[in-house]
Amino acid sequence: MALNNTPQRKSTLRMSLISEEVLSPEIQKARRMIDEQLARYCEFHSDCPEHLADAIRYSLLAPGKRIRPLLVLMACEACRGDIEKAIPAACAVEMVHTYSLIHDDLPAMDDDDMRRGRPSCHIAFDEATAILAGDALLTLAFEVLGRDVQPATSAAACCAALGRAAGAIRLVGGQAADLAGADDVPQAELLDWLERVHHRKTGALLTVSLQLGCIVAGGGPEKLAAMKNYGKNLGLAFQIVDDLLDLCGSQAKIGKPVGSDANHGKTTYPQLLGVEESRQRAQTLIEQAIDSISIFGQAAENLNRLARFVIKRNS
Ligand code: IPE
Ligand code: IPE
Ligand code: MG
Ligand code: MG
Ligand code: MG
Repeated sequence: MALNNTPQRKSTLRMSLISEEVLSPEIQKARRMIDEQLARYCEFHSDCPEHLADAIRYSLLAPGKRIRPLLVLMACEACRGDIEKAIPAACAVEMVHTYSLIHDDLPAMDDDDMRRGRPSCHIAFDEATAILAGDALLTLAFEVLGRDVQPATSAAACCAALGRAAGAIRLVGGQAADLAGADDVPQAELLDWLERVHHRKTGALLTVSLQLGCIVAGGGPEKLAAMKNYGKNLGLAFQIVDDLLDLCGSQAKIGKPVGSDANHGKTTYPQLLGVEESRQRAQTLIEQAIDSISIFGQAAENLNRLARFVIKRNS
């Protein structure tokens, strides 16, 4: 088995950091349930090749921040739904996210050898296994949504929304644009180009996480629109902070290489705007995110706290 005690211990450390600052006791409890449920979802039938199952568990159960599943639960809570019913959708989003990270680190993409504080999947295993582990996680997400979200109409809506967000015009399209680079983009259009890439490669999955929470809770169009607005602002801020951490962060804390963007000639916010203006831009976006969900009042307190965490995070 590829899993051992070390990553699980690290996981507890990084997660408790977020819990203490950000999460209410109910959400902390629900997050423990997410981790338990993720582990259950990757107990595979013996027909699954063991090295593939190991690679899936290695990446999915690694110490991520679990921001996207938390957003599912918090959106459900803000819409006054039952957060336990949102756990399958929360797990599905984390599976899609983890697949995107495994593929993002591959030599053909960002070629990064460290992720979540340990060797990237293709280093710990091999490239073909990493590709297949990603494929398996992506498809497992839709199996889980289709089977475990109730009622069936909500399951169908979740599948359609997640498929769209993860697909060719959003996450995958954003990754393709990121890899194609900005060489052909006129200087005056670079910032708009980068904003669109960030919305697609990162914002789309954060936004759909909120959407799934709303769907499970039965939130109407006004609530959904407010959540989408929050997600759009939060998503862009999140990737700006990710760009900043790649430049100024600590590898020990972010658990992945620093300087990767510069080494690969990526266009980033700090490169275009400088560090201070990028921080200011992220701060403004977070304030806009918080404003967007004022209609939820106290029920959105966890979302407000999570947004403030995103700007202060160092991991
Ligand atoms: C990393 O996401 C990829 C980006 C979209 C920036 P996270 O920073 O949420 O990664 P984990 O899940 O905590 O590892
Ligand atoms: C990745 O953006 C977004 C996705 C994985 C879809 P980055 O390439 O900046 O993410 P990190 O920095 O490797 O986590
Ligand atoms: Mg990338
Ligand atoms: Mg990357
Ligand atoms: Mg990055």
